Amino acid sequence: MSVAKKQYKRVTVKSLVEMKANNEKISMLTAYDYTMASIVDGAGIDTILVGDSAANTMAGYETTLPMTLDHMIYHASSVVRAIKRALVVVDLPFGTYQSDPKEALRSAIRIMKESGAHALKLEGGKEIKESIKRILNAGIPVMGHLGLTPQSIYKFGTYTVRAKEEEEAEKLKADAKMLEKIGCFAVVLEKVPAKLAKEVAESISIPVIGIGAGNGVDGQVLVVHDMLGMTHEFNPRFLRRYLDLHTEMTSAFQAYHKDVKAGEFPNENEQY
Ligand code: KIV
Repeated sequence: MSVAKKQYKRVTVKSLVEMKANNEKISMLTAYDYTMASIVDGAGIDTILVGDSAANTMAGYETTLPMTLDHMIYHASSVVRAIKRALVVVDLPFGTYQSDPKEALRSAIRIMKESGAHALKLEGGKEIKESIKRILNAGIPVMGHLGLTPQSIYKFGTYTVRAKEEEEAEKLKADAKMLEKIGCFAVVLEKVPAKLAKEVAESISIPVIGIGAGNGVDGQVLVVHDMLGMTHEFNPRFLRRYLDLHTEMTSAFQAYHKDVKAGEFPNENEQY
């Protein structure tokens, strides 16, 4: 069991690097709204990711591609209003940073200014190096994201494990080192072999946060709706469900429906 080596009143990007140096694992969960974020933060989770997975969980899109800056700012500002301790990292959505570094910086500044978030996450390696550098130069902390990068789903064709072949694994290792070198404070590794993820985590000094990347990395992230069992049709091997909220919520809604139909809600104590 990972134990907190130091109490952090507020988690900063520096705290995460320090946690890695102290062999303390980092916890990260997604949140997209005020109520969920206040529960996640109150539970002591170190980092909240306002992921563009909001496209799937909140809006019902099949991919993350439709998310816009306005969508992300809406979700991120709701989360920021709730948190007292956690570091809030926001995804830059598809199409807002890939075309040129100046546009990337404009997008980054909009999110930081209009949401109050603390850091941004961008998907990709050397192809977006100049965009990341431009954002870092403006004083905005950046978390990288390698391996399965859902914004490139149409290039990959499937959501299967990435970097199983030597060539892709070598590129991933080089990209991780590059992200460290230019000044990113952490990297997410999504759905890659555990052995490769461990090798990457051991080769760089910034934290590697895994999702489907095994236990040899510096921290873990899950999508909150998945770990709570709200999305019961999504069953990847890496997912541990801590609750079965889909079943629990369905029972609650059915009980309420039955009570209303039977005229049993509200009762005498539930009225004025
Ligand atoms: O958008 C998201 O939730 C993510 C995590 C899966 C890492 O990027």
